[in-house]
Amino acid sequence: MPSYKNNSECKGWPKDVGIIAIEVYFPSEYVDQGELETFDGVSKGKYTVGLGQTKMGFSSDLEDINSLCLTALSHLMERTGVGYENIGRLEVGTETIVDKSKSVKSVLMQLFEDSGNTDVEGIDTTNACYGGTAALINAVNWVESSSWDGRYAVVVAGDIAVYAKGAARPTGGAGAVAMLIGPHAPLVLESGLRSSHMCHVYDFYKPDLSSEYPVVDGKLSIQCYLSALDACYRTFSRKANARKDSAASPMSLEEMDALLFHSPFCKLVQKSVGRLAFNDFLNASVEEVPRTYHGLEAFRDKKLEDTYFDKDVEKAFLSYSQDIFLKKTKPSLLLATQVGNMYTPSLYGGLASFISNNTGESLAGKRVLLFSYGSGLAATMFSLRITDDVGPGSRLSELVSSLSDLHSRLNSRTEVQPHVFAETMKLREETHHKAPYTPVGKVESLFPGTWYLTQIDEAHRRQYKRRPLISINNASSVSSSSSNLVKESEFMSTDLLPQDV
Ligand code: CAA
Repeated sequence: MPSYKNNSECKGWPKDVGIIAIEVYFPSEYVDQGELETFDGVSKGKYTVGLGQTKMGFSSDLEDINSLCLTALSHLMERTGVGYENIGRLEVGTETIVDKSKSVKSVLMQLFEDSGNTDVEGIDTTNACYGGTAALINAVNWVESSSWDGRYAVVVAGDIAVYAKGAARPTGGAGAVAMLIGPHAPLVLESGLRSSHMCHVYDFYKPDLSSEYPVVDGKLSIQCYLSALDACYRTFSRKANARKDSAASPMSLEEMDALLFHSPFCKLVQKSVGRLAFNDFLNASVEEVPRTYHGLEAFRDKKLEDTYFDKDVEKAFLSYSQDIFLKKTKPSLLLATQVGNMYTPSLYGGLASFISNNTGESLAGKRVLLFSYGSGLAATMFSLRITDDVGPGSRLSELVSSLSDLHSRLNSRTEVQPHVFAETMKLREETHHKAPYTPVGKVESLFPGTWYLTQIDEAHRRQYKRRPLISINNASSVSSSSSNLVKESEFMSTDLLPQDV
């Protein structure tokens, strides 16, 4: 295992700040989108082809936002072997609100109790699916700032994405991602290139605090997503071009080895690649167009803002960008199509998927463009440079190996029938915010090592336990001794399970 223990070797200004390790958690049960089409009585192919979704992960009443984040953070700390005392900042991004005041971050502090470390900055950040990116930016900025004390930061992004019955329901999902942030990272955030686009829009929002469901204007949300993508790419390109000498060719998708997007559903991501290609086409010089975009000249007078739903433009640039999509984006859609929209973790699930579909050698030295979108709206485009250091024991090889079980973990999930999924949604609706409440879901159906809700008391205080865990990559396991968390060691002794998480 590479030395994650602390950053004591880091003297002076921290170099190569970025993502060192990533842990992904998704629920152990899913519904098949083809089966859901039949159950919902929609035309065959609507969810699987029209939206590009294969399976949708969902949670019973045993899991809430706190338990999802407890699970992802525990796994990250166990896998990397970083002690809780070595964390100086913990940021949570989520839009799944169970308490209007008390943060998820404060709940996660229970995991720090044995270490005695309470000196941990950061709280929760909320704006639809963007909170994870805001948390990442905060964490990276802290490490790069004069406030940094030499310890790691951790970002946890988690959500339960559920919709009322109807057209939006198949675009749900659930999960959490935890990321270790620090210097000498294998995935370095490129500095000075970030571009953001923020506006006031009611495309998707959650005004009814008694319900888990959002109010969503589907068509407007797609238009907002695409217009934010255009705006971010325009600014990103301007910043990238400003760094080049005048003879260099202007920023285009050519410069990037991978293109990753927030994925509400995979078809929109494929259209987004086409959309960026359309941007490049409009930015190309007169001489360049016949060379690179032969046959597309007729679209030269089109304007970005008039073409969000222009089927001719969409079809032409989907076709033009097909190879780019297959090579640079499709490998990142594993979790997006198999689990669904996880909201704040979606983009980082895409990053984990991309890494899990590569080797250290194929990743070394690559550049990755990422687009984060949260309704309402907040969007940022940024880029990562992957380290060249891929030798045995390097942080990149450790990162790749830690995500190599993603496919097998997805395959080890249990399929449940759509009527069971619908009943679970109904149960969540009926019991949302109920107190006192004892969840009725089956603990045995959870993956080993999963934290779950055991009880909400009459004062709305939530208590959690953890399913026994064997070990993750033989890393040391954590024990916790708070009032609300059952000590893992007590739990592990009698009931070891065969399946690793
Ligand atoms: N076979 C193949 N394709 C089919 C089909 C069939 N049998 N039936 C329909 N389709 C296609 C349609 O042609 C359409 O494709 P195009 O968009 O390429 O034309 C696609 O399936 C979707 O069908 P509809 O246009 O009928 O749309 P819908 O009423 O099913 O709603 C939705 C789709 C608007 C995305 C809805 O699911 C929704 O509101 N989802 C939640 C909001 C959302 O995800 N917005 C995305 C941007 S906002 C964001 O990114 C933040 C976030 O995470 C929420």
